[in-house]
Amino acid sequence: MSKQVVLTGITTTGTPHLGNYVGAIKPAIESSHDAALSTYYFLADYHALIKCEDPERVHRSSLEIAAAWLALGLDTGNAVFYRQSDVPAVTELTWIISCVTAKGLMNRAHAYKATVAENESQRSQDPDKGITMGLYGYPVLMAADILMFKANKVPVGRDQVQHLEMARDIAQRFNHLYGEHFVLPEAVVDDSTAVLSGLDGRKMSKSYNNTIPLFVPEKQLRKLIMKIKTDSLEPGEPKDPEQSTLFEIYHAFATAEQSAAIRQRYAAGIAWGEMKQLLFTHLNDLLAPARERYEALLADPGHVEKELRRGGERARDLSAPLMDAIRRAVGIRPLS
Ligand code: TRP
Repeated sequence: MSKQVVLTGITTTGTPHLGNYVGAIKPAIESSHDAALSTYYFLADYHALIKCEDPERVHRSSLEIAAAWLALGLDTGNAVFYRQSDVPAVTELTWIISCVTAKGLMNRAHAYKATVAENESQRSQDPDKGITMGLYGYPVLMAADILMFKANKVPVGRDQVQHLEMARDIAQRFNHLYGEHFVLPEAVVDDSTAVLSGLDGRKMSKSYNNTIPLFVPEKQLRKLIMKIKTDSLEPGEPKDPEQSTLFEIYHAFATAEQSAAIRQRYAAGIAWGEMKQLLFTHLNDLLAPARERYEALLADPGHVEKELRRGGERARDLSAPLMDAIRRAVGIRPLS
């Protein structure tokens, strides 16, 4: 039997934060070490262009994300780690599958619909104001990413589940018309690790501006942790770990025994100030070695570039047979 293919992409618009680590990076790195899986992780830099028109940001984010994944121990001997833009066949495939994708299917995409609804609520003349073809076709590019490598499982956040359904729809339509070329992918949403709260208690997310970057210098890490919202319970009053962002973050980075010990401290009324100090020390000790590797990689982008190029080459080789079959299937092939 062939190995299960696990694939996911990371849009290159931001700096990796604790929430990204817990929800996406850590499980991906674990899977990269699993010899029973065939894993693909890529920087979705074409997707970044849809949300971000700042070239420096896209470029910097690519380096930061790649450096973070490498610093944290991604096994690039096993996993194929590449830049989306280093596999031009992905955009070629995007075009071909867009020709079997119903426009009506894209009309139903949440991200697109939300923008239209926003325009309508502002009584804009044009419901499509600010909507580019990139945003509109976003799910088709994502489907190409996934179908290109015959992914079985695609770990994503809950907000991406609809895109996976669209990828399946598109694959089915293509297969129906041209033969069984594509594997139908499945979204994998891990509810136990999917979301971490941020500084203000809402989901940690760049769009809420409440993140703790994974590799901020020690001083800044302390400062940010001191900012995490707590309630007004006094030292000595029992506290509920389930209602506490400090605990939630601690728990995400702790063993079961460590978490159990902290639960007892909550019951015994640990002071918020002490808990913040404790969380800081715990995280800092845990992250310091990887942070050092991260900083070394940022200072040596050539090394990161080399890793990505090697991954890109593997990805191109791995995509070539399917791309060739797809071209032939639709009637694009040499005349003799
Ligand atoms: N759209 C995904 C996100 O914003 C990123 C992404 C791009 C992706 N292509 C993908 C995820 C393919 C999984 C598979 O999170």
